[in-house]
Amino acid sequence: MRKSFDLYFVSSNSHKYKEAKSILDSFGIRLGFFKLNLEEIQSNSLKEIAENKANDAFSKCKKPIIIEDDGLFINSLNGFPGPYSSYIFKTIGNKGILKLVSSKRNAKFVSIITYCDKKTLKTFDAKLDGTISKSQKGKGWGYDPIFIPKNSRKTFAEINHKNELSHRFKALKRFSSWYLRKMESNDR
Ligand code: IMP
Repeated sequence: MRKSFDLYFVSSNSHKYKEAKSILDSFGIRLGFFKLNLEEIQSNSLKEIAENKANDAFSKCKKPIIIEDDGLFINSLNGFPGPYSSYIFKTIGNKGILKLVSSKRNAKFVSIITYCDKKTLKTFDAKLDGTISKSQKGKGWGYDPIFIPKNSRKTFAEINHKNELSHRFKALKRFSSWYLRKMESNDR
């Protein structure tokens, strides 16, 4: 029987929530949603940004929550846009990124998931290697039309099994094994 847990995803991005919900569902964890804008500090560290967001989310929701912070790191641009991925997406977007990337197209997507409740603040991270496509392909949100995951010829926007291999899937898988153990030990 599926257990029902009291866990919420806090974000202004409903695409992220939908993916996280479907991934956590597959691990038997039921995820609610608080659609909120959270404080985002300027930092070179995704972990620092995520932990600050998680504290802000918990103080607003007063329930066990997870938040996610992501970054697209392009090797030939020394990791740009990295922690600035959200701002760069809003300003120059995929078109602008494609103009900046030349022959070397290797990149990685990083996901940081931070859990926060009254007593615990814990962070999980994962990366997915890939390349930047030469043009936008497929209809997807964010950088999906330009990110080709490793071992694929299609972008995230063109594949239908993104949730089985994405940076988000990998970070949430790590989170899930910790969270389910934590819930079990609370039950004992
Ligand atoms: P954020 O700061 O965590 O919201 O994410 C940084 C940027 O990466 C935002 O512009 C997101 O839309 C984008 N992003 C995060 N995850 C994905 C994804 O799975 N696909 C496409 N874009 C993403």
